[in-house]
Amino acid sequence: MKGNVIVGQSGGPTAVINSSLAGVIKAARVNGIEKIYGMHHGIEGFLKEDLIDIGEYITEDSDLALLKRTPSAFLGSCRYKLPQIEGNEDVYDKMFDIMEKYDIQYFFYIGGNDSMDTIKMLSDYALLKGKTQRFVGVPKTIDNDLPITDHTPGYGSAAKYIATSMKEIIRDNESFGASKPTICVVEIMGRHAGWLTAASALCRGEDCSGPDMIYLPEVAFDMDDFLARVKHLAETKSSVVIAVSEGIALADGTFVCELGGGSDAVDAFGHKTLSGCANVLTQKIAEVTGCKTRAIELSTLQRCATHVASRADIDEAYNCGYYAFKAAKNDETGVMVVMRIRDREVYTVSYETFDIHEIANVEKKIPREWIINNGTDIGQQYIKYASPLILGALTPYYSRGIPKHLTLANKKVK
Ligand code: F6P
Repeated sequence: MKGNVIVGQSGGPTAVINSSLAGVIKAARVNGIEKIYGMHHGIEGFLKEDLIDIGEYITEDSDLALLKRTPSAFLGSCRYKLPQIEGNEDVYDKMFDIMEKYDIQYFFYIGGNDSMDTIKMLSDYALLKGKTQRFVGVPKTIDNDLPITDHTPGYGSAAKYIATSMKEIIRDNESFGASKPTICVVEIMGRHAGWLTAASALCRGEDCSGPDMIYLPEVAFDMDDFLARVKHLAETKSSVVIAVSEGIALADGTFVCELGGGSDAVDAFGHKTLSGCANVLTQKIAEVTGCKTRAIELSTLQRCATHVASRADIDEAYNCGYYAFKAAKNDETGVMVVMRIRDREVYTVSYETFDIHEIANVEKKIPREWIINNGTDIGQQYIKYASPLILGALTPYYSRGIPKHLTLANKKVK
């Protein structure tokens, strides 16, 4: 095939974003692409012509196997919004000059709804100027908030980690409580969508009743109602564990985490840093109940836990990367790979592409009817939806008892 490939990773990393990278690399190699470049820190690095010759780092299939077992973005990530085209043609011309200099014909970007904006802008500009490069997005986000696709690579593994950790936290918390219970509030990522927090319900089964309450950002948070419910639980149970989304907000739009002060920092896409609502809530709970409390923020752990990644997720992430190359080869551009579930009972996935304009910058929330018990729990529709996504495992490669990773620093072909 004529022309080279470039691939970048963008946004918050996941446990399987490198599996998608492995899929793009494998497909490019199978199709005889001579050079595969990586953007060092996504489009931000690309703008500085900071490119990585992937062939200098990854040669064997065994490298790809280790890459699949490595969390975080192997190439480095960024949160960078391209400017609007009008008035900024020089920025776009510069990027196309770099593509022409390195004979890049196929451009892949692995990211979430913000990152898909990059594919949208570049493919729009190519169309405007009659350029021939192909731009294809590969879905990725633990938040699972990309529209059109059934779910996103990265979500299943984060969900598995959250459900597993929730079960372990509940087990621990049950040890005490002879007099008064300890009340744990577990804060889970996901921004304005509750998909990740809902995953805490996946630990329910014969040996675990799961969290006592689950609060998602799709429903306005009522502090008085919350505290009354916690007080009742504290009086009737020997252990109380509650799952809350980092993005829960009062009816007037104030994020609960902001009630504790917090920071006004926003990223390039205008998103506030949402962190700290578990702390706010445990302080209030302690005042109302007099019980010992614990705020547990799963934070970064939930998006880098490759040691407990879902096999289904790793495979789908790889397939999305592989399929993106196929789409570009078939002359598609301005699209993202999406997953469709043909049958949820026997769980079969098919891969397609969809117009990037319908995807970039759009957030998909949990359907309101899936949220039950006056906004304090998630129902069976969610359990049915998410259960297949967390199945299976891929054993890490160990060295001295610790999982091995592939990094730019430790793997340069001499
Ligand atoms: O988009 C993924 C995500 O992990 C969100 O769930 C979270 O709000 C955000 O990224 C955190 O971003 P950062 O690591 O840049 O603070």
